[in-house]
Amino acid sequence: MKTSKNKAKKLNNDSTKYGVNLVSDLYPTSDIAEQFRTVMTNISFTNVNDNIKSLMITSGDPSEGKSTFGSNLAVTYAKQGRNVILVDADMRKPTAHKTFNLSNREGLSTILSGHSKIEDAIKYTTIDNLNVITSGPIPPNASTLLGNRRLEDIVHKYNQPNDLVIIDVPPVNTMTDASIVSTIVDGTIFVVPQGVAEKKRTKLAVEQLKKINANIIGAVMNMSEDDLTDNYYYYYSK
Ligand SMILES: Nc1ncnc2c1ncn2[C@@H]1O[C@H](COP(=O)(O)OP(=O)(O)O)[C@@H](O)[C@H]1O
Ligand SMILES: [Mg+2]
Repeated sequence: MKTSKNKAKKLNNDSTKYGVNLVSDLYPTSDIAEQFRTVMTNISFTNVNDNIKSLMITSGDPSEGKSTFGSNLAVTYAKQGRNVILVDADMRKPTAHKTFNLSNREGLSTILSGHSKIEDAIKYTTIDNLNVITSGPIPPNASTLLGNRRLEDIVHKYNQPNDLVIIDVPPVNTMTDASIVSTIVDGTIFVVPQGVAEKKRTKLAVEQLKKINANIIGAVMNMSEDDLTDNYYYYYSK
């Protein structure tokens, strides 16, 4: 039955404790790393007239693979030579500081609350060209912070042709103001885990994004193997 299958494939919360799996960095010659390079090529082909300098990664619900996808995509672009700034805007379930082993004393929350300057909170990683703004300490008002103009300042600050800001936002169904972020970025990528996401939840999330005129440049279907081996397929949907 569909429901039990969905339950069986429901994902865990390990990434908040240990970070996500950076296959693209650890196994650059693997099939998965190759799939990320294909996704990157598809993004540039489908937006050939629009140099995409900022992207938002979201999905309908938590634990659907957003951070895994966003972080590996960030690594893939950085290895290609783009100056990448990965922003962890999922303040309810932050992972980037764990994934890249960084301090989280300063980060997006302290930038948005006016306690840190962007240039003080941004951190280098061990991967060339990849910089990260971690979530920062989780504030009680996490949801209202995302509508903050200072997030736009980050996108505007890294606006050179070679820059790419990738924002990992909370799931739109559980934190509706996450969709606001779509209005300040050049494109939104929607992650749909096969056999995990429920159709009506995905529909609800996409409707929410369309209502606010998000530029959804593509959808990624992940976890498409029954045995949950990491698999990604990119679909152009504009
Ligand atoms: N393609 C995939 N195949 C199998 N497991 C995955 C895949 N992507 C993510 N996961 C696992 O799912 C869990 C949630 O992933 P994460 O990227 O943190 O989701 P989100 O950011 O949407 O909350 C993690 O334990 C992660 O290792
Ligand atoms: Mg996440």
